[in-house]
Amino acid sequence: MPLEGQQLGRYRLLRLLGSGGMGEVYLAEDISINRQVAIKVIRAEASAYPSTDSTKEAARLFQREVKAISGLDHPNILPLFDYGEEKVNEAILTYMVMPYRQENSLATWLEKRGDTAILSSRDVAHFIRQAASALQYAHDHQIIHQDVKPSNFLIRNNADNPDRPDLLLADFGVAKNRRNITGISYCQRRQNGSNIQSKYSFSSLYSRLSRNPGTYQTPGLIERQKHAISWPGSTCCTC
Ligand SMILES: Nc1ncnc2c1ncn2[C@@H]1O[C@H](COP(=O)(O)OP(=O)(O)O)[C@@H](O)[C@H]1O
Ligand SMILES: [Mg+2]
Repeated sequence: MPLEGQQLGRYRLLRLLGSGGMGEVYLAEDISINRQVAIKVIRAEASAYPSTDSTKEAARLFQREVKAISGLDHPNILPLFDYGEEKVNEAILTYMVMPYRQENSLATWLEKRGDTAILSSRDVAHFIRQAASALQYAHDHQIIHQDVKPSNFLIRNNADNPDRPDLLLADFGVAKNRRNITGISYCQRRQNGSNIQSKYSFSSLYSRLSRNPGTYQTPGLIERQKHAISWPGSTCCTC
């Protein structure tokens, strides 16, 4: 059931902006202050039994995303405005409210530029610096994003330099909180994959921006990259 026109608390849903693994993102209006916002919504059945494993998993990831973002305050991380739950017909809608970025994501910005428009190395450096700054800050606050890619960076136009919009890291849906990792030590996890995965996705972002697909073409280069990029917070081990 489309949610356009639905009201959740003081937010009226206007139109669908995007949907993915976790839920749907809508453009909405905060009717108390006439401000446009973006709302990510997931739904679960309200009655006792229909709640499937996948809806429970979506709800769990959603809670994790809310907790991850609520403690972060950084110019290149999309902040959280609000969070709520509303029962609509037989469904429980859980939602988080964020600033609306009409410029959309870095992925759409790159698509619009087209395949022939190569970014200058200064432009690449601008994006990489902002992405690294956001990820470093999240790591300093024990959050590992784990899904670093152009569609998860929203952009804010920069009037002084239209070729260099600012990045806003979003979608912490699969982020991990290092404090909550149990069973094996964080150090082991990093060696086993979590941190390597962050290195790879950050490096893929660089490859995508610089149009240097060779970065990961050979196993030798892959091995060298694993060790060449020192990831923030790597004081407890040398992986
Ligand atoms: N705050 C926002 N402003 C504008 N568009 C957004 C916003 N948040 C998400 N979107 C759009 O919705 C898409 C999916 O959002 P995302 O948070 O990445 O959810 P998912 O978990 O479905 O990947 C984004 O790639 C973007 O196009
Ligand atoms: Mg996403």
